[in-house]
Amino acid sequence: MELRHLRYFVAVAEERSFTRAAQRLHIAQPPLSRQIQQLEQLLGAQLFERNSRPLKLTETGRFFYQHAAQLLAQMDELESMARRVGKIERSLSVGFVGSTLYGMLPKIIRRYRQLHAEVELSLHEMSTMDQIAALKEGRIDVGFGRIRLDDPGIRRVVLREERMIVALPLGHPLCEAKAALSLRDLLKETLIIFPKSPRPSYADQVLAAFHDRALKPSRVLETRELQIALGLVAAGEGVSIVPKSVYGLKRDDIAYKDLDDDKLVSPIIMSMRMLDESEDIERMLRLIYDLYDEGAMEYQAPGDRAGKPPQA
Ligand code: BEZ
Repeated sequence: MELRHLRYFVAVAEERSFTRAAQRLHIAQPPLSRQIQQLEQLLGAQLFERNSRPLKLTETGRFFYQHAAQLLAQMDELESMARRVGKIERSLSVGFVGSTLYGMLPKIIRRYRQLHAEVELSLHEMSTMDQIAALKEGRIDVGFGRIRLDDPGIRRVVLREERMIVALPLGHPLCEAKAALSLRDLLKETLIIFPKSPRPSYADQVLAAFHDRALKPSRVLETRELQIALGLVAAGEGVSIVPKSVYGLKRDDIAYKDLDDDKLVSPIIMSMRMLDESEDIERMLRLIYDLYDEGAMEYQAPGDRAGKPPQA
């Protein structure tokens, strides 16, 4: 059996059509069909139900698909790892979700550049989901995201659980109501969430926080990104639940309030390829823990100014 048999089979199984699989593989359909027939002969088993539309896998086909897809993912990983090992100059490509820019990411990058000037660092904004694909394809070496996505090829480290806070338009009655708000206090407001896509995202963590407490916001407004959500809050369109580090982004038209439940958190997760034991990545991890130990993440909480929200 050749690697090409696996690639062709996986494409047909995923597309559930010979025509679409042939387009995806940039080959004609007759040779594709011949390769699949050859594979079935080699295995002595049928992989697709005959005459099913869309194409359906047989039981053997489903078993074979699971293992073939895993093998191909490992092959891709091996390829990108080998390229990385063979590189003469050292480089580290970092993927990150936008909200981590308000936390420690800028400090981490600055410190890393200071300490390891010989490593060429590049930064790429992308969703947590895109980070997984980019890691496997070797487009990035480390990802910082917020969603726990399981993948056998990816190692994940939860760096910290970040508290969520509420962003309110300045002068909103809830600004003066009490020191810390509960989700229940927000039910009558329009809840502005982000990012709208791709999902799952931080938006789902916020929605799950309500759902897990048997609460339902009366109106939800989905926006593309954090900055737009904050702009809409400032315009009085609603309230938004944001990671606490966003508080550092002080605006004079928004007030931030703590939430009264310490389970309302969003993790910051570092992801890397399972087999990547590169020293550059281990250095990055050590540097992050050093910064945590130095208290780099400590900032004034929303309610810290004599129990009042800032600028309220
Ligand atoms: C943090 O805020 O803790 C953080 C942000 C980005 C990468 C790593 C850590």
